[in-house]
Amino acid sequence: MSETLEQLAQAVDYIESKTTIVPRVGVTLGSGLASFAEEVKVDCSIDFSEIPHFAPSKVKGHPGKLLVGELSGVPLAVLQGRIHFYEGHSMQQVIFPTRVLARWGVRHQIITNAAGGVDPKMSPGELMILRDQINLTGTNPLIGLNDEELGPRFPDMSEPFCKSSIESLKQIMQKNSVPHSTGVYCGVTGPSYETAAEVRYLHQIGGHAVGMSTVPEVIAARHMGVKVSGISCVTNLGTGLSDEVLDHADVQAVAKRVEADFRKVLVEFVSGL
Ligand code: HPA
Repeated sequence: MSETLEQLAQAVDYIESKTTIVPRVGVTLGSGLASFAEEVKVDCSIDFSEIPHFAPSKVKGHPGKLLVGELSGVPLAVLQGRIHFYEGHSMQQVIFPTRVLARWGVRHQIITNAAGGVDPKMSPGELMILRDQINLTGTNPLIGLNDEELGPRFPDMSEPFCKSSIESLKQIMQKNSVPHSTGVYCGVTGPSYETAAEVRYLHQIGGHAVGMSTVPEVIAARHMGVKVSGISCVTNLGTGLSDEVLDHADVQAVAKRVEADFRKVLVEFVSGL
């Protein structure tokens, strides 16, 4: 068995020793969006630091916990917080939690994040349903020996985000009058925010929002055949599109403001899966 498979097996064994629930659905909660977890009837809560081979998340607003439970009868695993590449972790560490959930049995991963709008038509506070992504991290989490047991050497990326779920999310947001759009997420490494020239560039190449996560996780999930849905909370306009200076506290404050809408949408979406 490869080292990766062994590490995944150890993490899954540990989690399985704590709960009898086997989730079909996973949720990754981004910056400032962690309170969705309150909607879950929690069976067990495990700190990332306890799980074998999980790197601890150190970012404010990312507590770093795996919650296992049920929502409307759907068995669910929630990654409250995530591992970022900009923290100095390897791409393998960044995608490890996503891979663990997939090995455990998750077949649909809902990935959320806070992002900056690079399309001048966007407004802070709207939700963007991801319909595609552009990997601008300069690397790929699947570089290295490929484990055929996880997925193919050259995974297809023609449907990074599940098409039918995009339609369901749109309907849910419309019905609840939640300001939203669908768009293309550009994944960068950060941690510096973009310059005004970078924001113009990202829009010109077809992006609508930019953020420092998600892209590696989506690649890892698709590699393993897991369906993915993505939602960005657009917390700010990119540099040059507004007069504001960007600050992580402001990003979190806007995410908090949108959290109620976000929770409602996610509850309805998960309940329908
Ligand atoms: N850029 C990158 N990441 C972000 C932003 C942004 O403007 N806002 C929230 N996360």
